[in-house]
Amino acid sequence: MTYHPITKAIRLQNERSNEMEHSVPLFLTSSFCFDTADEMRAAFADESDDNIYSRFSNPNAQEFVNKMCALEGAEAGYATASGMSAIYASFIALLKSGDHIVACRAVFGSTHTLFTKYFPSYNINVTYIDANKPELWEQAIQSNTKMIYVETPTNPGLDIIDLKLIGDLAKKHNLILSVDNCFATPIGQRPIEFGADLVIHSATKWIDGQGRVLGGIILGKKELIHQIYLFCRNSGPSISPFNAWVLSKSLETLDVRMERHTNNALTLAKCFENHNAIKWLKYPFLPSHPQYKIAKKQMYNGGGIVCFELKGGLPSGIKFLDSLKMLTLTSNLGDTRSIASHPSSTTHSKLSEEERLAVNITPGLIRISVGLEHRNDIIGDIEQALNVL
Ligand SMILES: Cc1ncc(COP(=O)(O)O)c(C=O)c1O
Repeated sequence: MTYHPITKAIRLQNERSNEMEHSVPLFLTSSFCFDTADEMRAAFADESDDNIYSRFSNPNAQEFVNKMCALEGAEAGYATASGMSAIYASFIALLKSGDHIVACRAVFGSTHTLFTKYFPSYNINVTYIDANKPELWEQAIQSNTKMIYVETPTNPGLDIIDLKLIGDLAKKHNLILSVDNCFATPIGQRPIEFGADLVIHSATKWIDGQGRVLGGIILGKKELIHQIYLFCRNSGPSISPFNAWVLSKSLETLDVRMERHTNNALTLAKCFENHNAIKWLKYPFLPSHPQYKIAKKQMYNGGGIVCFELKGGLPSGIKFLDSLKMLTLTSNLGDTRSIASHPSSTTHSKLSEEERLAVNITPGLIRISVGLEHRNDIIGDIEQALNVL
């Protein structure tokens, strides 16, 4: 019998031990034992799938990977200590000096730092494409281009990239298409259906969903994941068994959590779209979003993030945050508790005004990660903070 991916995210589990536990045990062990020298030799010679050492593999990490493969429709995966270690490993295991990447301009801040501060010294170069200029993707491909890398929706500006368009381009030019699917989660979007070869997550966000642990994962084609695994096995960004255990349990509730997060987010977006303290508000499933049609084509829901620009710019952004009574000021997202952040004065304060504007981070931009609280309480808190402005 084949089960739905949602059921697999709940039911896939490591084999039960002799203790007959219902919830999977935690394999908090650095290494694994062998009965004979020959079994140990065979494991090192890749003649068996036996666990050797938790930097290479661990049952808790594997269970998390198996569930994520089911959700994303991927052949294989490797779990890492954070989203950034997953992103870094996916580049460095597959690219070499002289290679070129075409990427969407609004990539996550640390990914942008890898591209601009570190990759030039490895002789790996990146061309950025703006979300509102899809016609430029093909023109940007060079003879040494190896990869197309995108985030959609982007953090924090919620740009949407047309996955079908770039999936077809990647296929035509024989490029690796890698998608950071952190904001949508596999409940909201499955990039492999549009031709992605790799899908990456910061599991720290919606997948954990309760702001407890860091984690990352790379999923996709078997032969690519094998190369990434070999790099990680030797360089060591493996996930801790404890974090993998937490994340695997979290996947059992991902679908039901995302249903509530996204319903709350849509309600909030509709409620504040025309508020007089707000210049504009963006949510992928509002018809006013510039890429609404693409979002509706490729996403199952609009996600759990809403962002808006306050009329009063930077001072209003700071005043708004200071006036909130329930929403938390913290630099995470994807939590049960609603979170507000002001990228201009915090996460993106080191960028120049020009660099911020290039990725739609305007001075009064507020990002709301919509939690699971009762929608009236979230709306009430935002409303009273807007009324102070
Ligand atoms: C879209 C996106 N990708 C990657 C990351 C990095 O993930 P981590 O913080 O788990 O390293 C983040 C973190 O906010 C993110 O929002």
